[in-house]
Amino acid sequence: MNVVVGIAGGIAAYKAVGVVRALVLAGHDVHVVPTEAALRFVGRPTLEAISRNPVHVDLYEGVAEVRHVAIGQAADLIVIAPATANTIAKLAAGLADDLLGNTVLASEAPLVVAPAMHTEMWRNAATQANIQTLVDRGVTVVGPAVGQLTGADSGPGRMEEPEVIVESALAAYGAHAAQGGHGAPGSGLAGDLQGRRVVVSAGGTREPLDPVRFLGNRSSGKQGVAIADAARSRGAEVVLIAANLEIADPHGCDIRKVSTTLELREAVLDTARGADLVVMAAAVADFRPATVSEGKIKKQPGDEGLTLELVRNPDILAELGHAPHDGTLLVGFAAETEADPERLIELGRAKRAAKGADLLVVNRVGWTEGFASDENRASVIGVDGEVVTELHGSKVSVAHGILDVVVSRWDDRFADPAATTPTATDTTTDADSASEDDTTR
Ligand code: CTP
Repeated sequence: MNVVVGIAGGIAAYKAVGVVRALVLAGHDVHVVPTEAALRFVGRPTLEAISRNPVHVDLYEGVAEVRHVAIGQAADLIVIAPATANTIAKLAAGLADDLLGNTVLASEAPLVVAPAMHTEMWRNAATQANIQTLVDRGVTVVGPAVGQLTGADSGPGRMEEPEVIVESALAAYGAHAAQGGHGAPGSGLAGDLQGRRVVVSAGGTREPLDPVRFLGNRSSGKQGVAIADAARSRGAEVVLIAANLEIADPHGCDIRKVSTTLELREAVLDTARGADLVVMAAAVADFRPATVSEGKIKKQPGDEGLTLELVRNPDILAELGHAPHDGTLLVGFAAETEADPERLIELGRAKRAAKGADLLVVNRVGWTEGFASDENRASVIGVDGEVVTELHGSKVSVAHGILDVVVSRWDDRFADPAATTPTATDTTTDADSASEDDTTR
């Protein structure tokens, strides 16, 4: 396919080379359109060598071939990485004062932007309003990630990794193509979750001990946020219940911030009623301190240890799973340290049954696996204990894989939001007939 990679003038422009390369290696015909400023960060010969195509930047070159619109018209997909605050503002306003602006306006292809800028610029109300404008027009926003920025500072604003951008861009193209490829990016992309309400919990809960300490876990929220983002890009209306995320909030989701298990429970119960899909990706603390100290807990002279009394937290997934939830497909997660693959699946089967979830995604976690990583490996278990699919790759591709299974679980009526909502019984029946080949990506 013909992919245009726009590069704006930010230090992350050097990482755009990785985006171009990944697309070329995947067999795409890549045309790079850098802004003048981008060429201060990365050289034109590099971009031409990696993209294997001439690189144009000047609006007034190639006038005879009407290049300012020809590149956009020929594009099947446009990816702008990095997208600086300035370029995002220009895109939101529809400005066409350079070749990239003209290319975007002249194109009906899906548009994907990967913002990169300092945290303050990202959080600035102007940038946020511009990003919202793009999201409302159906543009896919990938990232930014949280991490070390160019200076000594760190926070949200770092460009997503090239492979995550490429994966999200190809998924956005897939969603667009699924709708027959009609409509400009501004018309809003419709996907297979169009018209559906999805609730996703992500992150890890924290249980306070005193004003300065908590019991928590190492969940970063990456997998849950990737699911929320993927569902939104496929057309769903998404509520993200965010428990202490260590990554930037995704755009286009209704975000409810929570911290403790009890707060998470309240937010989930408040939003799950009538939802088509609830995904419990959050790592939830099973116990909380019996009492929360008003002041900082101090050690006393001679104290050699400290005993904490903990009490059980409610099991939110089990509460949803054991209540009638007709019409709501429930997806749980299981984070297990079990190394043996068969035992891991057994644990997953037992957990799915105990919680009453319709699907359970089992993944192995450990000192170096799972939580903060950009990659994941998971098995999806169905109501009969069958392994519906095995997924591995970036958390974005795992997210889409889980949603593919969800979609395959709904009956034909799911395709028509106006029709009767499917029931839990329908889900079970579908599960019986789905073969592994149908759902493996
Ligand atoms: N979960 C929940 N409420 C809890 C604990 C877990 O809703 N109090 C949900 C999680 O969001 C996840 C699933 O249950 O979808 C499994 O979570 P996990 O931590 O793997 O299992 P636990 O139920 O905590 O069991 P254990 O710690 O004994 O393995």
